[in-house]
Amino acid sequence: MSMHDDHRKSEGQFGAIICERQSLQDGGKAMRFELVSKQGQRTRVDERVVVKGFAVAYDGNVYAYKNVCPHLGTELDWQPGEVFDESGLYLICATHGAAFEPRTGLCVGGPCKGAILSKIAVVVDNNLVKLSN
Ligand code: FES
Repeated sequence: MSMHDDHRKSEGQFGAIICERQSLQDGGKAMRFELVSKQGQRTRVDERVVVKGFAVAYDGNVYAYKNVCPHLGTELDWQPGEVFDESGLYLICATHGAAFEPRTGLCVGGPCKGAILSKIAVVVDNNLVKLSN
C-alpha cells in the first residue's frame, strides 16, 4: 500500500502512521484512514472495531476527525477525501451540507449546528502524520 492510497489502515495505537505531512495541503484533499482497534476490557468482547477517519491540513496545522457526521452518522466526503468547501475554510458534510470549523470540529451551520465532530489526536513527527494518544 502506498502513501497515496485512498484509504489507509492504521492500527489504533500511538505512533501509527497516517500519511506524509506533505501529502496534505491547507484546505485541500483529506487523507482517509481506518483505525483498527480492539474492543477492550469494558465489554469483555475481543473483537476488532474499525473507525473511519480523515486527516486534513488547515492554516498550517493538521487535524483529524472520525468520518462521522453528528447529524445522521454519514461520512462527510462528497468524493473520497473531498471534505472542504470551495473556500477551503470549512469542512462540509455532503449529505445535508452541515459546515464544521476545521480547528475544532464544531458545526457552525446546518442541521447539527452546535454539535461537534469527534477528534482523533494526531502529531506530526519527522514529516509523518501519526496517531497520538
Ligand atoms: S448527515 Fe451530515 S448534515 Fe445531515
